[in-house]
Amino acid sequence: MKSSTARKIGIAAASFALLLLVGVIISMKMDGPPSRADPDNLSQVSVGKRIYNIHCAACHGVRLEGQPDWRKKLPNGRMPAPPHDATGHTWHHTDSMLFGITKYGLLPGKYAPSDYRSDMPAFIGTLSDEEIWAVLAYIKSFWPQELRKAQRDLTLHRQ
Ligand code: HEC
Repeated sequence: MKSSTARKIGIAAASFALLLLVGVIISMKMDGPPSRADPDNLSQVSVGKRIYNIHCAACHGVRLEGQPDWRKKLPNGRMPAPPHDATGHTWHHTDSMLFGITKYGLLPGKYAPSDYRSDMPAFIGTLSDEEIWAVLAYIKSFWPQELRKAQRDLTLHRQ
């Protein structure tokens, strides 16, 4: 009698632990791993702000507003720098794509058509990977919550 009660308690405790574990795994899968560019990480965002102002603001604008008439080709046939705030299309891209474009530029055949010419420089050799993630965290911090969520969902489902 005694031992069977103990066994029942044991089984109940084990089932509970298992359920808890399954719950944790499911919630982790739904949220995904934290992005390496986290707009809620204030210290990362402040590092990113400094890097942005030194390396990106000249073209993409101090307030991330982009160049004037950014949808129209320049006389040289290339595109102006687009805004990185909510009015641009930066948030339409996954984290890995934004990281890749910043590190390697608009690499023809990978991030652009094979004969594409672009004024977006590659930052490989200038910025470390961590600095690139920080600058992306700063850019994301300008997006309203719903765009952050949309871009995060895209990142989770299209890696
Ligand atoms: C010399 C000017 C210049 C600088 C400096 C520059 N960019 Fe760009 N960037 C561009 C141009 C121009 C484009 C658009 C390229 C095209 O469409 O051909 C662009 C495009 C991009 C895109 C793609 C956006 C999209 O929606 O497709 C990202 C991401 C980006 N830049 C990030 C950065 C970051 C981060 C920095 C700073 C570390 C930076 N850029 C610095 C000129 C620049």
